[in-house]
Amino acid sequence: MLDPFAGRGTSIFNATVLGRCGLGIEISPVGWIYAKAKLSPAPIEQVIERLHEIADASIKYTKLSKSQPVFFKNCFSPNVLQFLLSARDRLDWRRRTCDRTLMAILLVYLHGKEGQALSNQMRQTKAVSPSYAIKWWDEHGTKPPDLDVVEFMLQRIFWRYSKGVVKGNGSRVYLGDCITLLPRLAKQMREKTIPKADLLLTSPPYYGVTNYYYDQWLRLWLLGFEATAYVSRGPYQGRFTHQTIYRNLLKGAFCRAANLVADDSVIYVRTSKDPFTKQATLDAMLTAFPNKKLNEICRPFQQPTQTHLFGDRTPKQGEIDLILRPS
Ligand SMILES: C[S@@+](CC[C@H](N)C(=O)[O-])C[C@H]1O[C@@H](n2cnc3c(N)ncnc32)[C@H](O)[C@@H]1O
Repeated sequence: MLDPFAGRGTSIFNATVLGRCGLGIEISPVGWIYAKAKLSPAPIEQVIERLHEIADASIKYTKLSKSQPVFFKNCFSPNVLQFLLSARDRLDWRRRTCDRTLMAILLVYLHGKEGQALSNQMRQTKAVSPSYAIKWWDEHGTKPPDLDVVEFMLQRIFWRYSKGVVKGNGSRVYLGDCITLLPRLAKQMREKTIPKADLLLTSPPYYGVTNYYYDQWLRLWLLGFEATAYVSRGPYQGRFTHQTIYRNLLKGAFCRAANLVADDSVIYVRTSKDPFTKQATLDAMLTAFPNKKLNEICRPFQQPTQTHLFGDRTPKQGEIDLILRPS
C-alpha cells in the first residue's frame, strides 16, 4: 500500500502488522521520526545505553543551558534542560536507528500534562507560542517538574517495548515532499520491477486547519531547528490556506501516485467534509483515476473536537472517506 501523506505512519504501521508491504512519504521530520521508530525501532538495550550516554554528557551543557531564552528556563528544570541540550546536540536521528528511536520517545514526552511529561504544564498534542506559555505559567503559578530524566525515560521505554515491536517486512517511510519523491519512487519501481501498490490509503492535509510546523515548534527545536514558533519556512509548512496551491498539491500528489499503483487498485482517502477540502480532493482523485467508481462514507466526529474543548460549540462538519474502486 502507498501513503503519500503518511503523518505519523499509522497506515504504514497497520499495513505492516497485517502483513502488507507499505510505502509512505512524510514531509515533517516529527511525523517521519514517529513513523520510522514504530516501523523499525532499535533493540531496547541499545536505546537504554544511548539514554545513559546522553545523560552522562549533559553536564557539559550547564553553561549553554544558562544562556537559553527565558521560555526554556520556565518550561524545563535545569537538569532536564541540560539533558535535552545534550540530546539535541548528540542524537543523529537522521542516520542512526538507535538515536532516532530514543529521539522519538523523547519527542512524545517532551511536553504534556503535569506528571506525564518533561515540561511545565502544556498540551501534549501541540506546543503553544513562547509568549503565550510564559504568560500562562505566570498566571497559574506552575513550575517545571524537577525530574530524574533517566528514571522517567526508562519507565516509558520499558512500557513501549512491553507491547512488542512489529516484524520488519520491507515497509518504508521516506522523509520529504511527495511531489518530488513520488516520481523517484516510480522510477525505482520500474527499474527494479517492484510490483505496484494495490491500495492507496491516505489522509492529505485539510484546507486551512493545521500548521504542522507551528504546532510542533518545540519538538522541531529538539530536532535542531530554530528555537521559536514560526508560521512558515517553506512550501507545505503553513496552514494550507492558498486555494490554488492547495489544489495543485493534491492534484500533483494523486497524479504522481497514479504511476505507483496497479490498474485494479483501490484508492481510499480520508478527508474533511468541509466543502472546499472535499471538492479539491475529489477533483484531484478523479483527475488521477478517471475510470474508477466513487463511494463516500460519512465519518461524523464521535468525540468533542479540540476547539470544542476550548469552548467552541459550533457544529463541526466531520470527516468523509472517499473511495475509488475499479469499475
Ligand atoms: C492529515 S495528516 C496525515 C495524518 C496521518 N494519516 C496520521 O495518522 O498521522 C497530513 C500529513 O501530510 C503531511 N504533508 C503535507 N504536505 C506534504 C507533502 N508535500 N509531502 C508529504 N507530506 C506532506 C503533513 O506534514 C501531515 O503530516
